[in-house]
Amino acid sequence: MTLTYDPAELEVRRNPFPVYRQLQDDDPVHWSESLRSWVLTRYDDVRQVAMSEVMSPDRLRPFYAQLKGERRETLAEVMRYLSLWMVFRDPPEHTRLRRLVGAAFTPRSIEALAEPVGRVVDHLLDALPKNQPVDWAQQVAMPLPAYVILDLLGIPHQSYADLKAWSDELRAFIGSSRADPDRYHRARHGATQLAGFFREVIAARRATPGEDFVSRMIAARDEQGSLSEDELVATCMLVLFAGHETTTHLLGNSANALLDHPDQLQRLRDNPALINPAVEEFLRYDGPSNAITRVVSADHEIGGKWLRSGDRVFAMVNAANRDPRRFDNPQGLDIARQPNRHLTFGFGLHFCLGAPLARLEAQRCFAGLIQRFGKIERAAGETEWIDSLAMRGLSRLPVRLA
Ligand code: HEM
Repeated sequence: MTLTYDPAELEVRRNPFPVYRQLQDDDPVHWSESLRSWVLTRYDDVRQVAMSEVMSPDRLRPFYAQLKGERRETLAEVMRYLSLWMVFRDPPEHTRLRRLVGAAFTPRSIEALAEPVGRVVDHLLDALPKNQPVDWAQQVAMPLPAYVILDLLGIPHQSYADLKAWSDELRAFIGSSRADPDRYHRARHGATQLAGFFREVIAARRATPGEDFVSRMIAARDEQGSLSEDELVATCMLVLFAGHETTTHLLGNSANALLDHPDQLQRLRDNPALINPAVEEFLRYDGPSNAITRVVSADHEIGGKWLRSGDRVFAMVNAANRDPRRFDNPQGLDIARQPNRHLTFGFGLHFCLGAPLARLEAQRCFAGLIQRFGKIERAAGETEWIDSLAMRGLSRLPVRLA
């Protein structure tokens, strides 16, 4: 029987783990006809993809290069910024961008966010009614990281609705494989609005520097100078984009995992000091980064298959994180698991810059949840998974708290 992997199938979206398991055993370097791409599922292979020098994260510029006419014009403004996102760049451009942006993302700057993160957590959890259905995805998981990113950038929370709408427009282009005829125009609108907004923020910080991330990025220097205006705008967009939805899905998937494992929820209640390894286990067990995407830049072989230059590769992080070749009892949730070298934040050069912030948010959120509510259970209604290949997360998670 030929194995197929089609993430558009509802059942696979809900629970992709059985098909990952099959692929790992029977076809670990799988060619997916529906995706016209390679799908890799074993831990060692996924880590190798993230580190590989013969695979590039730059899948946008080759795509843009072959566009013609109106489409090319529509996407020019989008590409102006996305082509400056470090996550899509190879060295040496990546090295320079990461050095300068990394200088603004110091451990101290993350520590300074502990207080604002605590405030956002308190604000959202205090607003949840007891003994009534609550949508954890919409009422907590969605707004919490968005407010934190706004705090990081030094932007008032009132801007949330606009920024969310514009970044959703941009996501229709980057994060979706669906054929939506209008998505290029919407992406252009989102990119233009976001760029205009951040240009104003940057101008204000140049005039009056503060302690926020934007001011620190403006001040960052290396021997070649500082970030250009477009690079600053692009990086603000990247941080908003990369830091928001990923963490949203971590908060949603983690709550879902706890609801499925009342024994582990009780264990965390009994040992609140386990919160840090618990969050690592949530990241491993059902993390938000479903796949890391690369394009093959030189023909080479993996596991007996030839990958050709130009081929697209999806390295399935959530599959790797449950590879029995790497983890004991990989399908089980163990909030004290040690060691736990999951790949949810990637690996190598592009390892997530925001990992300490995402960890802090999840730790504070679940510590606060358990402290406040003695009862956390599912409420009536469907749990809905988003339709995305790059990410795994929930758009709806009905719970009841008391
Ligand atoms: C649970 C939450 C998060 C997850 C699962 C996650 C996951 C990832 C992954 C897998 C990568 C590497 C992508 C690749 O190799 O192609 C990455 C890169 C990145 N992430 Fe995150 N991320 C999260 C939160 C954040 C936050 C909160 C921020 C910022 C505030 C952030 C900023 C970035 C940046 C700037 C990069 C690019 C790094 C580079 O290319 O060198 N992320 N993230």
